[in-house]
Amino acid sequence: MKTLLHIIASPRGEQSNTLKIAQSVLARFREQHPDGRIDTLDLFAEELPPMTLKATDGKYRLLSGKDLDDETRPAWEPILAHIERFKAADIVLISSPMWNFGMPYVLKHYFDVIIQPRHLFRYTENGPEGLAKGKRVIVVTSRGGDYSEGPARAMDHLESSLRTMLGFIGITDPIFIHAQPMLGAGPEVANQKLAQAVAAARQVAL
Ligand SMILES: Cc1cc2nc3c(=O)[nH]c(=O)nc-3n(C[C@H](O)[C@H](O)[C@H](O)COP(=O)(O)O)c2cc1C
Repeated sequence: MKTLLHIIASPRGEQSNTLKIAQSVLARFREQHPDGRIDTLDLFAEELPPMTLKATDGKYRLLSGKDLDDETRPAWEPILAHIERFKAADIVLISSPMWNFGMPYVLKHYFDVIIQPRHLFRYTENGPEGLAKGKRVIVVTSRGGDYSEGPARAMDHLESSLRTMLGFIGITDPIFIHAQPMLGAGPEVANQKLAQAVAAARQVAL
């Protein structure tokens, strides 16, 4: 039985452009894996653990080869729970609008929580090694502008930072589906581009 973890980084629910694309991926998943499980993680509904002094101390302990101790373990309980939830997924679907050229703060917070040494990466003689290899990751995004070509490409820090972070934990082949521009060229173009993204998502390999 396959598990798909759906990470939602838009607060807009029914109004969300990004979630319309995600619905198409989910329909594809249900079709291909009728007995599959969908675990929904709505980052605007969830209280993520804060990366406090104790939480970061725990990270530095692991980085220096030590185990968590009594001081750091309580702060790490919810962190470990999120890591386990992520690791349990065969397929990860990330639904993220572009906010100020990058990802909404809740999604960055989530990655700051789960990307931890010994769990999602480790250092070897040959440098860092990602430990989340083998997952299928699909990222659906939407944006007000169009960053697909020309100088605007360099301003798309949403795709570039997600690629870097996912690559660091061993996911080197994420699939990106973007809907753009959702605002910059009027409603007609937006509807057309959104429909294209929804159709592409229906065909995605899972
Ligand atoms: C806080 C905020 C910041 C945004 N920043 C950008 C931006 O930097 N570039 C852009 O093209 N659109 C930006 N937008 C527009 C959204 O990316 C766009 O409307 C997107 O389709 C919203 O996705 P959603 O409906 O799934 O929430 C921003 C919207 C909000 C609410």
